[in-house]
Amino acid sequence: MTISTNTNIRRKKLVLGITGGIAAYKAAELVRLLVKAEIDVQVVMTTAACQFITPVTMQALSGKPVFIDMWDSSISNGMPHIELSREADAILIAPASADFLAKLVHGRADDLLSTLCLARDCPLLVAPAMNKQMWEAPATQRNIAQLSADGVTILGPESGVQACGETGLGRMLEAETLLAHINSHFTPKLLANKRVLITAGATIEKIDPVRAITNLSSGKMGYAIAQAAADMGAEVTLVSGATALATPHNVTHISAISAENMYQAVMKNIATLKFGPKDMFISVAAVADYSPAQTSTQKIKKSEQTLTIALTKNKDILAEVASLPNAPFCVGFAAESENLLEYAEAKRLAKKLPLIVANLATDAMGSDDNQVTLLDKNGAHTFARAPKVAVAQQLLQHVVKMLQQ
Ligand code: CTP
Repeated sequence: MTISTNTNIRRKKLVLGITGGIAAYKAAELVRLLVKAEIDVQVVMTTAACQFITPVTMQALSGKPVFIDMWDSSISNGMPHIELSREADAILIAPASADFLAKLVHGRADDLLSTLCLARDCPLLVAPAMNKQMWEAPATQRNIAQLSADGVTILGPESGVQACGETGLGRMLEAETLLAHINSHFTPKLLANKRVLITAGATIEKIDPVRAITNLSSGKMGYAIAQAAADMGAEVTLVSGATALATPHNVTHISAISAENMYQAVMKNIATLKFGPKDMFISVAAVADYSPAQTSTQKIKKSEQTLTIALTKNKDILAEVASLPNAPFCVGFAAESENLLEYAEAKRLAKKLPLIVANLATDAMGSDDNQVTLLDKNGAHTFARAPKVAVAQQLLQHVVKMLQQ
């Protein structure tokens, strides 16, 4: 899973609590990812956690001293539990041991981490990690239910092979998945109760069993929009052509290889989910405009000096969706190599779209950044060059404003 930096989480203050369990080793990778996402991470460990991973490792990765001791004299006011929890935007306990969950339920405060959880004035998220029997034990299940009822967010665990050799539920979520949850936690839910269908990536039109017509789209822009929309609370379906990307967290993925597959998948979803004007269709895929009139069942052998392949025009998925009687709010993308705004606006009008995103194909394709201009009936809105996930957030915020008008 590839998680891009979400502008909503930059500079947020997160206390990462590490408790005693073998999954503590994954906390090292988590800190690295959190720091990379520009989150201000303060690590607090229990003494049991120090048996599994050293505070030196966590200090080196977070760039800050790690707190363990309730009586740490380096904290200015002598009240580390108050100071740390007062400053935090959220507390994440990863891994959260069965014992620590039990402590939280009972409001125990016998070490720094449990005390600052009790003294907190911010959301608490826990990522349980334990042996499957411990997870399934009625006591743990009662504790989890109670923590949920108390407003604590429970992340995972997931199923898989465990450190003890058994297989089952109890593994801590992977660091990248936890980062995705943190991303989502800090993102305002502007798209709650909205459904968003997105196409992304390149289509592949087969010529024969080993050859095809495709294009250079990486899918990164469409996937970034899918991730941003899911973080903003939308129910997201991603109809994806060929990409090397992993499906973003909380997104339903449908694979569609050819333009015709993509057309069928989009139309089926719109009909099944009964999409209407309050829903969104964002067409980011680089759909082949033409496909071979015939796909040879056998590999074409070379013979003549020239080879002509007859192509037939594919359906324009976006134009078809936009012309449906009860069409969703449609957003198109125009990837051009010249006359960017002129061509993009012509496409917007021809396909009858409320909004089109204009970008230079040569510039955007494959890159992690993008520089776009949005065109709607009020004219052009140019955004500064930014990582695609930041562009995705700005685009969706613009759509939310348009839907409100
Ligand atoms: N699109 C689509 N189905 C197609 C072709 C394009 O849904 N068969 C969508 C794209 O996803 C994009 C928009 O239409 O949102 C514009 O795509 P683009 O390839 O830039 O333009 P075309 O309409 O194909 O025109 P041209 O290739 O001539 O520039």
